[in-house]
Amino acid sequence: MPIAGKFITLEGGEGAGKSTQVARLAERLEARGATVLRLREPGGTALGEQMRAVLKQPGSMIVPQAEALLFAACRAQLVSEVIVPSLAAGSVVLCDRFIDSTVAYQAAGRGLERNLIDAANRLACGTVCPDLTILLDLDPAHGLGRASLRDHGKHDRFEALETGFHQRVRAMYHALAKEEPQRFFVVDAAQTPEKISEIIWHEVQRRFL
Ligand code: TMP
Repeated sequence: MPIAGKFITLEGGEGAGKSTQVARLAERLEARGATVLRLREPGGTALGEQMRAVLKQPGSMIVPQAEALLFAACRAQLVSEVIVPSLAAGSVVLCDRFIDSTVAYQAAGRGLERNLIDAANRLACGTVCPDLTILLDLDPAHGLGRASLRDHGKHDRFEALETGFHQRVRAMYHALAKEEPQRFFVVDAAQTPEKISEIIWHEVQRRFL
């Protein structure tokens, strides 16, 4: 029986290699007969893709409260319009970033109250929660260097923030993984993409196949 109706999210700081790993995991799952839907946040709906451009654009003047609510709004749309029906239809949904990004970036990074972010996430998601969250853990200095190479030195609104911001994001990811050790699987993202992909596949098979 192929894996069906599972919701897997990938999290991590800038340049951790999430999109590469989403693609590799999707290929492996499809090779085993699963129907896979690949999503990214913000994005995956018309609203989400429009907001993605606004949220990432270096010149956008957005206060932290508005930023948190915009991410939550995109998530609410994605959950209702895409994730719930896809899981119900038996797809495996792979999402590049989800609830934990808002806790890491807007609560730890921006300094907003954690309980307000948790409430926004509950409003956006209802009862939907990832079955597995893969955290690609990487020193921000390393990740920002990789992201800069990838984007030819251009920084989006988040990549341009000071290192302290990205260190707080990483520390919050570690805290979240400790809070929910069943949901999280932490991978050292300083390894080669091939090695990381092997480690992730091993864990996905162990849990679901
Ligand atoms: P990325 O998916 O290409 O990394 O770009 C998304 C950016 O948005 C990234 O810098 C992290 C940031 N972000 C938040 O700050 N909060 C969120 O809730 C999400 C989903 C992303």
